[in-house]
Amino acid sequence: ASTLGAAAAQSGRYFGTAIAASRLGDSTYATIAGREFNMITAENEMKPDATEPQRGQFNFSSGDQIYNWATQRGMKVRGHTLAWHSQQPSWWGGISGSTLRQAMIDHINGVMAHYKGKLAYWDVVNEAFNEDGSRRQSNLQATGNDWIEVAFRTARNADPSVKLCYNDYNIENWSYGKTQGVYNMIRDFKSRGVPIDCVGLQTHFTGGSSLPSNFQTTLANFASLGVDVALTEVDVTNASTSQYAGLTQACINVPRCVGITVWGVRDSDSWRSSESPLLFDGSGNKKAAYTSVLNALNAA
Ligand code: G3I
Repeated sequence: ASTLGAAAAQSGRYFGTAIAASRLGDSTYATIAGREFNMITAENEMKPDATEPQRGQFNFSSGDQIYNWATQRGMKVRGHTLAWHSQQPSWWGGISGSTLRQAMIDHINGVMAHYKGKLAYWDVVNEAFNEDGSRRQSNLQATGNDWIEVAFRTARNADPSVKLCYNDYNIENWSYGKTQGVYNMIRDFKSRGVPIDCVGLQTHFTGGSSLPSNFQTTLANFASLGVDVALTEVDVTNASTSQYAGLTQACINVPRCVGITVWGVRDSDSWRSSESPLLFDGSGNKKAAYTSVLNALNAA
């Protein structure tokens, strides 16, 4: 196949990208995105600060712009994200304890009602762990250690049709505290019947260092808990071809690795734009890393 999405589909997977609503009017950007990808994540537009800027007043204009753009092209959409320590509505800063807990529940219910039945995945909770595997201290954590499972239970009731994911970075290396912390939480959730369907490994890598040799082991170990896994925000500084090929192969080698999403279209669209981390250069040309990924997908 000659595009990333079609190549991934040959093994039943998807290949996605993050989209910024503000860039959809850029024809080079929209042309590449429309051609190459079949799963879309809103880069910022479905986050809590965007969707509930005032308490109980929801705004889905930018999120819907991305949703409509994607689904008109036959693409699926991944929701990102419902509960996170960052990009919170400013009014969450003025509340705490049971008031904040209820605001989180109301937020999940409000956003998920709007997108009910429409999305493939939701990143219900994002980045809730420290590097050593302990829970990140945040205003949400301060509402009680059970805030994550409350978020997932709320989400399942709000929309039973969408797969519910926990999403984080630096959980790709199996021999790392944070990976173990997240793994233990998923195992605990599964054993107690807390609803969770998937783990997103963001996969923000640094070029020059090698791919964690146990990346595939990590994917397989998460999958063995009975969840899907996905690479949800891939970028690699300087777009090392070996790392791009390696992360693609790691996903291919794990049956429950359902897809790969890169975190932007062109290097110039990236949050790490000075480090040329993506598959297309600033002019929209395919980079060597693109070919390494496409070849790996086609060989699967
Ligand atoms: O839209 C405003 C604009 O109006 C304002 O003038 C400008 C001034 O700072 O800010 C603009 O908002 C920025 C927004 O991106 C849209 O461009 C924010 O400042 C900026 O903080 C925000 O950065 C986003 C970042 O998440 C925030 O945490 C990045 O685009 C986005 O790529 C990044 O994505 C995260 C994932 O959600 C979670 N995992 C890590 C990943 C990379 O940091």
